[in-house]
Amino acid sequence: MTRILMVCLGNICRSPLAHGILQSKLPEDRFYVDSAGTAAYHIGNTPDKRSIAVANQHDLDISTQSARQFKVSDFDTFDIIYAMDHSNYDDIIRIARNSEDTKKVKLFLEVNSWIQNKNVPDPYYGGQDGFEYVFKLINDTCDILAKKLID
Ligand code: 4NP
Repeated sequence: MTRILMVCLGNICRSPLAHGILQSKLPEDRFYVDSAGTAAYHIGNTPDKRSIAVANQHDLDISTQSARQFKVSDFDTFDIIYAMDHSNYDDIIRIARNSEDTKKVKLFLEVNSWIQNKNVPDPYYGGQDGFEYVFKLINDTCDILAKKLID
């Protein structure tokens, strides 16, 4: 079983989409996917209603997810930890205990060589169009990632 964790700041906008989208593209008997936020702001909350809406438009239900904060034991639980942007990456690396932990942490968009800016933009303060853009970016990247993981 390969265990993959998607991490953003609040765990209500970007990483719940990455979690749901990647999970939908992988066989569940071989892969476990989860998500977390580096911040504690939204612990226990469902994803942002705009993320739920854009996922629904693409026939994906992420409404049952619940936000949680990234914790040091996630370094033990997961094989790969994908940060949605450089700031999330730095925050995770800061609490890594050793080089084994550090090696597990990657920038999600490094998977996608078509995209130059390696930050998934934070859509929280924008409108629904930002969520549509983020969905497409994450979905395209998860297509590449799923192919890579399954092969
Ligand atoms: P996320 O977006 O990191 O993609 O979940 C955010 C959600 C909430 C906040 C910031 C970003 N916030 O400041 O509450």
